[in-house]
Amino acid sequence: EAGALWGGRFSDGPAPELARLSKSTHFDWQLAPYDLAGSKAHATALAAAGYLTTDELADMHAALDELGRRVAAGGFTAAESDEDVHSALERGLIEIAGAGLGGKLRAGRSRNDQIATLIRLYLLDHARVIGADVAELVRVLAARAAEHPEAPMPGRTHLQHAQPVLLAHHLLAHAWPLVRDLERLADWSTRAQVSPYGSGALAGSTLGLDAELVARELGLAGAVENSIDGTASRDVTAEFAFIASMIAVNVSRLAEEVILWSTAEFGFVTLHDAWSTGSSIMPQKKNPDIAELARGKSGRVIGNLAGLLATLKGLPLAYNRDLQEDKEPVFDSVETLEVLLPAFTGMIATLTFETERMAELAPAGFSLATDVAEWLVKEHVAFRDAHEITGELVGYCEQRGITLEQLSDEQLAEVSPHLTPAVKAVLSVPGSIAARDGRGGTSPASVQRQLAGIAPRLEAV
Ligand code: ARG
Repeated sequence: EAGALWGGRFSDGPAPELARLSKSTHFDWQLAPYDLAGSKAHATALAAAGYLTTDELADMHAALDELGRRVAAGGFTAAESDEDVHSALERGLIEIAGAGLGGKLRAGRSRNDQIATLIRLYLLDHARVIGADVAELVRVLAARAAEHPEAPMPGRTHLQHAQPVLLAHHLLAHAWPLVRDLERLADWSTRAQVSPYGSGALAGSTLGLDAELVARELGLAGAVENSIDGTASRDVTAEFAFIASMIAVNVSRLAEEVILWSTAEFGFVTLHDAWSTGSSIMPQKKNPDIAELARGKSGRVIGNLAGLLATLKGLPLAYNRDLQEDKEPVFDSVETLEVLLPAFTGMIATLTFETERMAELAPAGFSLATDVAEWLVKEHVAFRDAHEITGELVGYCEQRGITLEQLSDEQLAEVSPHLTPAVKAVLSVPGSIAARDGRGGTSPASVQRQLAGIAPRLEAV
């Protein structure tokens, strides 16, 4: 028996080896509800153009609904002979409606415009799930920041102590990139909400079908401008894969910090028992597995983007079968994020910040040196000289094994006559933090303003 969808021209086949290679039902089956929605919309367009009577349209919709129920209940599944979800569902439709009616549905459409539309419907649905998960993580980060309005921590560059910052400021620095990821998803969706249905195989159809009607029926904003572009492009898919990667990378950077912070050396956080794991051999162990899996899975999500772009880069227009390879990478990124994000958010929501330990280390590593240099600038010393003087002061302290705060008035004067006792006013962590009160700064007042800005940005997406 020749291939079910193209029997006419063929005397034989497909070979079992070809069939095995070609098959996609094991992964594209999850597109079945979208395929059926597309078929209903297409039937409506066929009826509007006069190719189905009102009764036929009603019967077609009823048969597609019945097929949908069978698929949902597991009563209709892919057969060995089905190549993909589209061919399987045509078989199912004909089983229910008969070949007379069921055989009419394929007019004026191709699996090429079908699949290009269905992947958009799938991604739009899952973008909403992922967006809600990301928004929840942002809300949890903001709530944790709000719990600690004045707690300081060592701010780092190059992982070295740099300047003290508020814990809340640092947590919000992880929230903002995720807010932008939500904005990226919203912006992406305006491009994704365009329907390729009606593009046919590549050149459109002679049947005068209303592509805008199909788009409306599917809840999309409109139809594509170009049928070749509609069937051949996958930039919408690749852009989604990028946003998924960016989310995974942003989560991974926070994960890396949670892993570091939970070590004995840092001691900045204690993970909740329910959100950490033990060891099968070492009874004392408590491991940050969620954070490690977040860091690890980001590699896999990035790989999905890289693989998809590599698939696309050499393809001539229009449809090529290579495009069947577009689905598994984004399905995997979706499944990965939908499992990862709730676990990650739970870990962040339940961990304890060891604020005393953070406060104790906030002034370590001469992290107030910049405050001294800027104090000198306010005393009308050129910054170049102020930097030099403060550097000498740090060296002076290092040689004597003391901190900046421990310097006596005499010792300050010994390093430079500019260093009067008044400089001691800036040698405190709260003072240093409170002084950085400009927009985006780390002072408690600036951070409160920043925090207040999160909710409106979430509401706007
Ligand atoms: N299963 C294919 C895909 O995922 C759609 C079928 C198009 N096949 C074809 N021979 N034109 O892209």
